[in-house]
Amino acid sequence: MSISRKAAGLALAVLAVSGAYAGLGLATHSIARAGAEAVSAPSPLKADDFMLADQNFLSHQLHRMADAHAVVLITYANDPVVRREAPAYMALKAAYAGKGVEVMMLDSVLGDKRPDVIAQAKAAGIDMPILFDYEQFAGEQLKVTRAAEVIVIDPRGWKIAYRGPIGAANGAHWAADAIDALVAGRPVAATARPARGHVIAFPARDNAAAFSQISYANDIAPIVAAKCAGCHEAGGIGPMPLTSYDKVKAFSPMIREVIRTRRMPPYLADETVGKFQDDGRLTPDEMKTMVHWVEAGAPRGTGEDPLAKVKFAAPDWPLGKPDVVLTVPDVTIPATGVMDYQHPTVANAMTEGRWMKATTFRISDRQVVHHILTGVVTDLPAPGQTLSEAQWGASLGGYGPGRGSNIEPADTGVWVPPSGGVMFQNHYTPYGRETVEKTQMGLYFYPKGQEPKYVLQTFLIANFAIVIPPKEEFHPEQAYIEFPHDALLYGITPHAHHRGGSVKVSMILPDGSEQMLLVLPRYDFNWQYEYFLKEPVKVPAGAKILARWTYDNSARNPGNPDPNKTVTWGEQSSDEMLATYLHFRWVGETVADQHPEYNAALQANMLMGIFDANMDGKIEPSELKGRMGETLKKYFAALDTDHDGTLDAKELAVAMKMMGGHRAAATTPAATPPPAPKPSPTASATPQDKPLVVGSR
Ligand code: HEC
Repeated sequence: MSISRKAAGLALAVLAVSGAYAGLGLATHSIARAGAEAVSAPSPLKADDFMLADQNFLSHQLHRMADAHAVVLITYANDPVVRREAPAYMALKAAYAGKGVEVMMLDSVLGDKRPDVIAQAKAAGIDMPILFDYEQFAGEQLKVTRAAEVIVIDPRGWKIAYRGPIGAANGAHWAADAIDALVAGRPVAATARPARGHVIAFPARDNAAAFSQISYANDIAPIVAAKCAGCHEAGGIGPMPLTSYDKVKAFSPMIREVIRTRRMPPYLADETVGKFQDDGRLTPDEMKTMVHWVEAGAPRGTGEDPLAKVKFAAPDWPLGKPDVVLTVPDVTIPATGVMDYQHPTVANAMTEGRWMKATTFRISDRQVVHHILTGVVTDLPAPGQTLSEAQWGASLGGYGPGRGSNIEPADTGVWVPPSGGVMFQNHYTPYGRETVEKTQMGLYFYPKGQEPKYVLQTFLIANFAIVIPPKEEFHPEQAYIEFPHDALLYGITPHAHHRGGSVKVSMILPDGSEQMLLVLPRYDFNWQYEYFLKEPVKVPAGAKILARWTYDNSARNPGNPDPNKTVTWGEQSSDEMLATYLHFRWVGETVADQHPEYNAALQANMLMGIFDANMDGKIEPSELKGRMGETLKKYFAALDTDHDGTLDAKELAVAMKMMGGHRAAATTPAATPPPAPKPSPTASATPQDKPLVVGSR
């Protein structure tokens, strides 16, 4: 008997003990019937790729699991059969733990919501990823009809090896038999048996004949024009223009795939969280319209082709002549290869500080510039040195293909000091021909005497103590910042490197409730966005903004430079960062009445948010990790002046002073003309001698 046989037996034992079949008249009856039912070949034969986020907003992409022996999807519904069999599902998962078998649930039930399903699953004892198939793409394609169906997929060719009930009361363990064969590399006779759970409705699939009525001219082309063609245009960053019916049709199977895997449009934000300005996401209806149209064969239908008439050329300085133009030194981009991010710093030649209202970027070769982000820096790099994102003060906005100017939220401004400069994060993607990019940045200021009312601030939630073990696919790290004073949050910019896996940014209110603000189920180093909220969010004093990241250091991450390495904080993209910039203003602070002490109080909370993993407002020795943590451990006894075995905020403030005070004191404030007194210090030091990024912008 092989180990996996034993495992299968175990799963079935649990199934019997749990009463999944025994003692329940209806269930026993249906088992007897199921046992007598004919076995058929599964339909469909293959599982198309998809990517879905689970209850924790972690993403799972089917075809990235090619290294697994088997992928098992169990269809979920809040259904008595699922509840009864839940212990058997958990036993199946446990039996194959560490054996290269992925076991997950798939929830394609229309109207199901995360919080409800999380509560139901918990009550049923289900503790495994539950994939939310909100658009039903996975369920539709897999021809799911009922809950409690176990679909065993063979990653060699993505064929369906088995689908049907997990097993039967008579001791048959159909799902485990198929998994055992796949694990052992034995041939599997692909089989299907009728599932026993409730029927799951697939109204769109039931009406699939209507897909061919989707109009290219009225339904598809407007979506492409609004959400795709800004990049997929002649001379644009997208690899192929999508500027006519023929072009869209030619790429239609690929378009279906990139929507189902959530690769395009590359806006990354989860569909269920937040509303953003310049929201690049497809709505659920738009996704369905595109995918179903492709599945109907991408019919041309009638009507003129609207894409033929759309002009995509970006106007020269769309906001008019800038007050100041910064010119990035020419960059030669080779024909091929991968270019690391470039970090030029351009000196600011202004003789006086001004309040920035907007910025626009002028790109000479839009085909090569993937994105640009910028931030104020107070000190220019020494010759031969480059600065990093950790040195950024206030953000001055960025450029993304197809996006317009950066205009600050109503009546807020960013303070641009006269000295120092602007540090760029520039990402270029070679496209087969050497080219020279000449980038210019135009800055627009509030006219003198018409200064904005409010100061837009930037704060960096960072964790310099991250330690990411080798090979892990979902390694969690977090940091939070507690707000000492009421604030209005305008925007969030997450930043990590190639191993950045997912990020959830939420607000924990003083009453303990949590509000999700921004979620990227799959972070992508290639696409850096500033997410400005459609409506600013009130952050009351005492609330915490929490940034929870996962890092994918596994070989499944195609961008991973080395899955065998333990990774810590560092500037190189082969190192990692946990960085989440907040763009906000203080309630009660105006340009005329500034409160740098709020910024100082915010900074003082930083160390707590890095180490306080259980968020109890105290640091226990077990929470200290990384290089910085080791240093604190050394002085723990001395710092713990009330001898309660933990460091509280007051004791940490002493530690902060010890570790970084000398640098903070050395910061020289920039000069500001009246009537706009200089906001707050733009940089001080973290305990690691890294400038902190509370910037009055
Ligand atoms: C912000 C720019 C941008 C937007 C918006 C965008 N794309 Fe893309 N697209 C790219 C880039 C760059 C690539 C190639 C690199 C990559 O996959 O990231 C790409 C790749 C693709 C591919 C894959 C091509 C291949 O051969 O792998 C398809 C298909 C695609 N896009 C379709 C779309 C569709 C459909 C939309 C709109 C719903 C869209 N894109 C929106 C920039 C964009």
